[in-house]
Amino acid sequence: MPHDRSDSTAKTFAGDSISNLYGMILDNIDRAVIAFDSDGRITLFNPAAEALMECSSRQIVGKSYQDLFKNQETLLYLVKVALKEGRSITDDEGLFLHRSNASPLPVNAYTAPIFAQGGNQNGAVMIIRDLSRIKELEGTLRRADRLSMLGTLAAGLAHEIKNPLGGIKGAAQLLSMELSKGSPLQDYTQIMIKEVERINFIIEELMDLGSPREPEVGDVDLARVFNDIVLLQREAARSRNIQFKLKLDPSIPPVQGDEGLLTRLFLNLIKNAGESISREGVVVIETRIASNYHMTGPGRRSSPMVDIIISDTGCGIDQQEMDRIFTPYFTTKSKGSGLGLAISQKIIEDHNGLLKIESTPHQGTTVTISLPLRR
Ligand SMILES: Nc1ncnc2c1ncn2[C@@H]1O[C@H](COP(=O)(O)OP(=O)(O)O)[C@@H](O)[C@H]1O
Ligand SMILES: [Mg+2]
Repeated sequence: MPHDRSDSTAKTFAGDSISNLYGMILDNIDRAVIAFDSDGRITLFNPAAEALMECSSRQIVGKSYQDLFKNQETLLYLVKVALKEGRSITDDEGLFLHRSNASPLPVNAYTAPIFAQGGNQNGAVMIIRDLSRIKELEGTLRRADRLSMLGTLAAGLAHEIKNPLGGIKGAAQLLSMELSKGSPLQDYTQIMIKEVERINFIIEELMDLGSPREPEVGDVDLARVFNDIVLLQREAARSRNIQFKLKLDPSIPPVQGDEGLLTRLFLNLIKNAGESISREGVVVIETRIASNYHMTGPGRRSSPMVDIIISDTGCGIDQQEMDRIFTPYFTTKSKGSGLGLAISQKIIEDHNGLLKIESTPHQGTTVTISLPLRR
């Protein structure tokens, strides 16, 4: 008798702790897990599902899967196969989750029947994974690939041009010294020198694209970087009515990176934001700790990230332009070099970061950069 009792206590205890463990796993896993009973009513909706679908478990549990995935043929089909045919099924290809309050999300989804202990089917479970970060990462890597080829080529060419250019500038300076101070020909030598300097500047920018320089890593105080940049940009935009707003999270620790390169990166992006506004508007620079850890590259360990969000109320970018803005020399500005984003892309890649651009023509653009806090 005593033996029996201790046995049953042990069993309940083990049972409890296992279901506790299951509960904790479901609460903490970053995949949406949704369970359905045999009638297709939702019986479980974990926190990741709430975040992904942007609705609470309380609103959803008890509703039918047909309501949850209204008009989303593929997702409906996946649940149906698991529920009615008792098969498990996966969809990895170009699947989007449509949500009522938010933009569509690239996902993959897996459904499986649930079998009770006796072997009878007891509903189904669905697991959905958010692929948006992975898609961004793929985009970053694809752009980086294209760039590194072009960059190497361009840097080689730039190097070849720089030497004869130095000769031209030297000769123009000698000529200027030979001419008398008041000579009308002095104007020409000044133009020659100024234009050579301009070519030189463009070339130096170009060489940065293929630059083999390893970032010099140190602690970078993002708040200081942004304060300096904004000070300068306010000055540059004086003739227009542009507000630069900083919303910096003071709890963000210094980022590990190359201060010079990071300053350049943010200057490029903040300049673009300012330049997109023709008369009046707002540029907001916001920093915050990303809510979860992210992988920054294939085979790398995931790291906590800081998100830097630069948004403007400028002209925006249409879909056709969007495909080209990272291509070196693509510019829509009369005085643009078209190298800003290409260089920015390279700097982000060197810092194992990610970049995302969202834009609505005539409304504005939001650029989000995610940088790992630790290297
Ligand atoms: N914040 C922005 N708003 C609107 N368009 C932008 C923005 N950022 C970049 N662009 C577009 O991308 C193009 C390329 O940008 P970039 O590489 O910095 O070169 P540049 O600024 O010299 O034109 C710009 O000419 C512009 O059309
Ligand atoms: Mg630019």
